[in-house]
Amino acid sequence: MTARSSLTIVLAAGEGTRMRSSRPKVLQPVAGQSLLAHVLGACPKGAGAALAVVVGPDHRAVEEETRRLRPDAATYVQRERLGTAHAVLAAREAIARGADDLLVAFGDTPLISAATFERLRAPLKDGAALAVLGFQAADPTGYGRLLVEGGRLVAIREQADASPAERAIKLCNAGVMAFDGRRALEIIEKIGNANSKGEYYLTDVVAIVRDLGLEAVVIETSEDEVRGINTKAQLAEAEAVMQARLRQAAIEAGVTMIAPDTVFLAADTRFGRDVTIEPFVVIGPGVSISDGAVIHSFSHIVHSSIGKNALVGPFARLRPGTSLGDGAKIGNFVETKAATLEAGVKVNHLSYIGNTHVGEGTNIGAGTITCNYDGFSKHHTEIGKGAFIGTNSSLVAPVNIGNGAYIGSGSVITKDVPDDAMAVERGQQTNREGGAARFREMRMKAKAKTPKA
Ligand code: UD1
Ligand code: CA
Repeated sequence: MTARSSLTIVLAAGEGTRMRSSRPKVLQPVAGQSLLAHVLGACPKGAGAALAVVVGPDHRAVEEETRRLRPDAATYVQRERLGTAHAVLAAREAIARGADDLLVAFGDTPLISAATFERLRAPLKDGAALAVLGFQAADPTGYGRLLVEGGRLVAIREQADASPAERAIKLCNAGVMAFDGRRALEIIEKIGNANSKGEYYLTDVVAIVRDLGLEAVVIETSEDEVRGINTKAQLAEAEAVMQARLRQAAIEAGVTMIAPDTVFLAADTRFGRDVTIEPFVVIGPGVSISDGAVIHSFSHIVHSSIGKNALVGPFARLRPGTSLGDGAKIGNFVETKAATLEAGVKVNHLSYIGNTHVGEGTNIGAGTITCNYDGFSKHHTEIGKGAFIGTNSSLVAPVNIGNGAYIGSGSVITKDVPDDAMAVERGQQTNREGGAARFREMRMKAKAKTPKA
């Protein structure tokens, strides 16, 4: 048996007015990825699986996001927003090619899984013309209701057109549908706009399929998988569902979390074995954490890779482009950005390390700052291996500190320091002769005056 071909159309042309945002709705983030990225991630992929995304006329950014995620996808512009069926027909040319299965999904339902798409396609193999994804809504307000008569799906009624009795129905349309690809165009083209909003509703396909004497079926899933995101409140709910899933998956994969509910992950976070994440850690996109690493509390990490057995935090901020070698240690109140710290490097307290490469085993003392920005551009700092940077030093980039070099505390380094050299730069230092002896004398006198307790 050969695998069935598919075309998936993702509708993403909506304005998202209810978001009250200048960003297109499908580009709003959940777990560090756009809503669209979540949906496209679940769509069928590989040989024989075509993808089309329908975007709004002023949504360049949505097209770019599509191209970044799925370079093989076609994008179609829906010039006027006349409803979900009208949006599907923006991709008419792709539908006309006649894949075995036509799938339609919405760009604003980010929690959908790949397995559900497959479940929805199954009835088509058995001859159904249409399969609709349904769910029992805790509060069905706003969703299309699935009307079932004698066990058969007969119509979908949109909220605005539903009677009070129909509004009481909790079985709702999730928005994802699978069509027999050879009949889909003929069915969708029959949809009119005689409803209270004057829109072309994709949901009318159910009644059309029934009138043609063909079979439409419902496949049910959980509400959490198909939450449609129209508002910022729903965006926050989706985030909560996604975070719970990500934490559970991480824990099942062997990550130790002491207080999972206080840890925030991104959809693409990667973990090795025996990683520990302490309470109150935020991990943004693009982070990988290798075996045995420990992330202490209150750390914030984005676009960084963390080596085996590395220790981070508490209170560390790893910004984009940070790479920590095996056994490296980043302590409290340390910020890194575009910095590669090789194996065994220690930056234990109160430092900023940016646009920097640090060789193996170097120790960077408290309060060290790489002065990488001169007000115009960023400059690189190179620090060799086995070097020692004394506390409260400023390394003014561009600058090279050699292997094994020793920088005295409080130095302001503006010139390169050769391998194994010692540099102490503290401006003018005055040594007062006999200063320590005078101090001791004064203390003895003060003690003699104070009666013993
Ligand atoms: C839709 C369904 C409803 C279902 C709900 C599930 C219709 C008519 N209604 O309602 O039955 O319960 O989703 O979440 O299908 N879009 C376009 N162009 C348009 C209109 C919409 O691309 O002209 C896109 C939107 O970007 C969005 C999707 O289609 O991704 C759904 O549109 P939306 O307006 O959110 O529909 P709902 O009112 O939520
Ligand atoms: Ca919606």
